[in-house]
Amino acid sequence: MRPGAMWGKFPKRSPSGKPAASIGERQRDLLISDFRFYVWRVRRSRLRAELHARIANRVASMMRTGWVVDVGCGPGLLKPHMDSLMKNVRMVGVDIDRRMLAFARTEFGLEVVQGASSNLPIRDEGATMVVSSASIKDWGNPEQGLAEIVRVVKPGGRALIYEFVTKGPASQPKGFALRYGLVSDLLRRMMASLIQFTVDDAHRLARTLKGDVEADVGVETDIGVVRIEIEKHARTPPVVSTSGGMQ
Ligand SMILES: C[S@@+](CC[C@H](N)C(=O)[O-])C[C@H]1O[C@@H](n2cnc3c(N)ncnc32)[C@H](O)[C@@H]1O
Repeated sequence: MRPGAMWGKFPKRSPSGKPAASIGERQRDLLISDFRFYVWRVRRSRLRAELHARIANRVASMMRTGWVVDVGCGPGLLKPHMDSLMKNVRMVGVDIDRRMLAFARTEFGLEVVQGASSNLPIRDEGATMVVSSASIKDWGNPEQGLAEIVRVVKPGGRALIYEFVTKGPASQPKGFALRYGLVSDLLRRMMASLIQFTVDDAHRLARTLKGDVEADVGVETDIGVVRIEIEKHARTPPVVSTSGGMQ
């Protein structure tokens, strides 16, 4: 299939029917303002590689085939980790930044589509699974982003949203600089003054979820990351009584 062909068919709409959100939607990560520096840095980051390896392992433990949507995919660094573990899983990256998408497509062959978390360009129940890493803190409206994720996940599917904790408990993992290097440690400290994301923020966001979903919040204390795991319940088929009617 031509890359992107499948996703091209999907209607670009939100449940509210509002037009696509502006590409200038709040993008607070100032460290991304120099694109080339950002990509150069994250490609060398042991911390980012560790996070992506964990996400891929978790996804592999939950699915063998189907479509994964990576919301805020950035330069697509998760793709090689997914490919190394899953041969029958296809992935599409969504990001508001064209440069990120162009890089992810040319460098890693990721299928990509430009769009915002608040208005995902994916059809209802089109994804077996949704992942997102280090992006939700940048979303202008994270509650709407989570609602969109629930909309696009198929019943029985899941979503895994990972974010670095920049403030409060879990924001200062022990031995971090030793394991992940001084640069990562310095950037982690800088992020704390630029963008604040706490474990409580993750709990609060998880509580905003509506519909037939269950959410669990976990903390990966050794890398200072919080994880929101969402399960969308499978629809139970109607029970047919012996007299032939539905109950
Ligand atoms: C820090 S990068 C993380 C990239 C990648 N997920 C990773 O783990 O390396 C955050 C990404 O989220 C994207 N982003 C920010 N706000 C967004 C939004 N509202 N919708 C979609 N993408 C967004 C940015 O353009 C950027 O590529």
